[in-house]
Amino acid sequence: MIRLARATTRYVCQACGAVHAKWGGKCESCGAWNTLVEEASPESVPKGLGKGKGKRVDIGTLTERTEPTPRLATGMNELDRVFGGGLVAGSAILVGGDPGIGKSTLLLQATAALARAGARTVYVSGEESDEQVRLRAGRLSLSDAPVGLVSATSVRDIVATLDGGDAPQVLVIDSIQTMYVDSLDSAPGTVAQVRSSAQELIRLAKRRGTVLLLVGHVTKDGQIAGPRVLEHMVDAVLYFEGERGHQFRILRAVKNRFGATDEIGVFSMTDGGLEEVANPSGLFLTDRAEPVTGAAVFAGLEGTRPVLVEIEALVAPTPLGTPRRAVVGWDTARLAMVLAVLDARCGLALAGSDVYLNVAGGLKIGEPAADLAVAAALVSSLTDSPVPQRAVVFGEVGLSGEVRPVAQTEARLKEAAKLGFEKALLPPSRTAQRSPLELIELSRLQDLIGVLGEPAVRSALAR
Ligand code: TYD
Ligand code: MG
Repeated sequence: MIRLARATTRYVCQACGAVHAKWGGKCESCGAWNTLVEEASPESVPKGLGKGKGKRVDIGTLTERTEPTPRLATGMNELDRVFGGGLVAGSAILVGGDPGIGKSTLLLQATAALARAGARTVYVSGEESDEQVRLRAGRLSLSDAPVGLVSATSVRDIVATLDGGDAPQVLVIDSIQTMYVDSLDSAPGTVAQVRSSAQELIRLAKRRGTVLLLVGHVTKDGQIAGPRVLEHMVDAVLYFEGERGHQFRILRAVKNRFGATDEIGVFSMTDGGLEEVANPSGLFLTDRAEPVTGAAVFAGLEGTRPVLVEIEALVAPTPLGTPRRAVVGWDTARLAMVLAVLDARCGLALAGSDVYLNVAGGLKIGEPAADLAVAAALVSSLTDSPVPQRAVVFGEVGLSGEVRPVAQTEARLKEAAKLGFEKALLPPSRTAQRSPLELIELSRLQDLIGVLGEPAVRSALAR
């Protein structure tokens, strides 16, 4: 019998973490190209459980009472809300975001706030030198905060330094992509290193009851390098978003074992660091005296909070064979759907037009409830007739052209009224009737055409 030698290398997809025996140009698992990287196999593991006796573990019941988990609050309300009321001891949190968006700034401010409140905190920087971090702290007026500062990238060194009785209560690793374990040959930042480093650090956190905050850079296509491997290893995943040119930054929970997801915290980036924006609902609106075409105010919901945001659209005849679709802050596929429905159900053919869509202020909207507002902005731009003044718009659009009711209608209307809006374009809703706003109910997308002026639409179509 011929026995094959055990393979000593394997190929790991850097996008999804799938392991392949052979190299290939394309990952069979996620379909990404040029992502397979050779890595040393972990030491061969004996088949089954091998030798050795396990020790008995206790079996509990669901009725056993445990104390409510104590939480460590940073005192920064916007941050604590996203965490679900504060940090839970022994938990691991991944904070992802584009390079330069402000992750280091946010976490340095948070650690400083915790340290000032008496918590033992350590900030490990693998990207910047001690001096650079100190300079930043100085700029943020945090120099006096008793934060432990470490500049290191070896996980072995970090664990050796911090694994003791005086382990920190809060540990920041900035960033996980710079960390490495020396038992692996691959370079820092590869999936294997990111995974192993995170594993070791999480083990340390669980053992010592430390809150572990891992910073992760997002790659161009919007994923944290080795995203799937990290996202299921940690207790919470937060994304720090925003447009670099804009001042607002949004911290969003996409997974949270200790709180609600889809909760957001809003910050504004200033010379003195990140400042909390306690009441963001009117932040993404533009103050205009004159009505403009191609803009609609969407009454949205971010987590538990209503947020009003302006959506702008520009529809222009295209000089190109394939018209351009440029979207900032919304889903391209969702835009394609709204355009298709406008075409098929309302007879508004936009196939020969460039379409630009922009959500004001750098906010990213994920709610389907924005469909109607997007449609209103598009139709308004196409027909050059403004959406009724001081009106908010919301509602989900179905493929058949119907406008569907959305959650939390009352909360949306209440916030709109508070900010001085007078009308609302919305799907028919019983709960809305109590609102002081003038309600313009649309059950089909075609009804929108009537609201924006039928003659205008007809003449736009004739053009
Ligand atoms: P940083 O926290 O280094 O981003 P990340 O860790 O996500 O890569 O933020 C860097 C940006 O923030 C930089 O372009 C400058 C800006 N910034 C301010 O505007 N004000 C400040 O007080 C600080 C510290 C940074
Ligand atoms: Mg940084």
